[in-house]
Amino acid sequence: MALLELNDLRVSLEDGTEIVKGVDLDVSPGEIHALMGPNGSGKSSLAYALMGHPAYEITGGEALFDGQDVSEMGADKRAQAGLFLAFQYPHAIPGVTVTSFLRSAINAIRKARAGGEDDPVPIPEFRKELLEAMEHLKIPRELAQRYLNDGFSGGEKKRVEILQMAMLKPRIAVLDETDSGLDIDALRIVANGVRELVGPETGALVITHYQRILNHIKPDFVHVFVDGRIVEEGGPELAHKLEEEGYEAFLPEGAEA
Ligand SMILES: Nc1ncnc2c1ncn2[C@@H]1O[C@H](COP(=O)(O)OP(=O)(O)OP(=O)(O)O)[C@@H](O)[C@H]1O
Ligand SMILES: [Mg+2]
Repeated sequence: MALLELNDLRVSLEDGTEIVKGVDLDVSPGEIHALMGPNGSGKSSLAYALMGHPAYEITGGEALFDGQDVSEMGADKRAQAGLFLAFQYPHAIPGVTVTSFLRSAINAIRKARAGGEDDPVPIPEFRKELLEAMEHLKIPRELAQRYLNDGFSGGEKKRVEILQMAMLKPRIAVLDETDSGLDIDALRIVANGVRELVGPETGALVITHYQRILNHIKPDFVHVFVDGRIVEEGGPELAHKLEEEGYEAFLPEGAEA
């Protein structure tokens, strides 16, 4: 059994429109999966449904994390179990600095793993790890003392997202790379960050309609997502084929990419 398992997953909007129309997908530690598809195909809706966003209802099938139904887990439970959704905190959180946010997130996870007993990370250890991770991701030190995502540029948000991933060490990370505003350096840092963080303990599902990032991330598996369904699967060569040929071959007749 895969750690993250989507079985015939269906997602609808509040008005009943079905956006995700039966998706089967397995993601395990050690693997990088790319979910690629044209604008509006339903990729973000799939990710929002996994994070329990109220506007995206799971209307069929199931999403399991470690055998547990994700839709019944709640944000805290998911984080504690090791499922990381990169846009889980997309909005600015006034009054909470990046540092304090990360420390409370880590402590919440440690507490859950210690069976409900407080087991805070020693501050010197936390500081050392934070500074090393920030240096590695080329995040300016002053960002750590700013309020989370408050006035952050697109590139800064993305770097801090990878910083969260580096500090929280999830077992599966789901990243929705809708942001096409990354400059080449930010793109490389994000991509390398994902590459480095994936290992025997960690896997990733990278959602994108954006080919460039995959040149750096080098996914092990590529899934082509069109109109709410996975229509083709393969290895990294599939991403290159898409880059050359676009989505046209996968679209219903008469539709445009
Ligand atoms: N909250 C919403 N209200 C109304 N329509 C929505 C909502 N969320 C998604 N949709 C519609 O569902 C479809 C899928 O959108 P979604 O954002 O999942 O696509 P996407 O594959 O992530 O696209 P992109 O590559 O542009 O990010 C679109 O037609 C979109 O307009
Ligand atoms: Mg999207």
